[in-house]
Amino acid sequence: MRSLQPLLKAGVAILLLVLCLHLETSKAQEDTPKKPLIMHMEINKSKDADNEVELKVTVKTELKECMVVNTYLRSNVSSMQGQFTYEYTYCLCDDVSRNFFWEFEVNEPMKIVVVSDIIPRGGICPDDDAVVPIKANRYYIYDTLQLQ
Ligand SMILES: *[C@@H]1O[C@H](CO)[C@@H](O)[C@H](O)[C@H]1NC(C)=O
Ligand SMILES: *[C@@H]1O[C@H](CO)[C@@H](O)[C@H](O)[C@H]1NC(C)=O
Repeated sequence: MRSLQPLLKAGVAILLLVLCLHLETSKAQEDTPKKPLIMHMEINKSKDADNEVELKVTVKTELKECMVVNTYLRSNVSSMQGQFTYEYTYCLCDDVSRNFFWEFEVNEPMKIVVVSDIIPRGGICPDDDAVVPIKANRYYIYDTLQLQ
């Protein structure tokens, strides 16, 4: 009996330690929820043409799972044509950021919105191994372009 007591105590201590560790890891996960989609845009004036700009959009995910994403531009100027209307549909996976480029003319001040939809489409990701988040599947960033 005597020799069993310290053993039991040690057992409780270990159990408490395990519980605490468990609580801490689940708390850490709550504090920093993983973002399904992170977007960033960069706009440069083109060297070749006066009114032309180069737009670069970077998209990445913090999720472990792959997703099929459709990325496109919208503007409050309805007459936008050419590359501005390009849409990119691709497989986005963990830790591999993707870059997309558009070149177009800006003839008046405009708002630009970059939209990314996470869509349930087959044949894009390898083995069709892709997810669509339940909570939100549309993400956007925007900027305003002025004429210089
Ligand atoms: C903008 O210019 C910088 C510096 O020249 C370059 O590194 C970057 O790739 C350019 N971005 C775009 C969208 O062309
Ligand atoms: C588009 O938005 C820009 C910036 O807010 C504004 O200056 C411009 O007048 C708008 N153009 C149209 C056609 O609504």
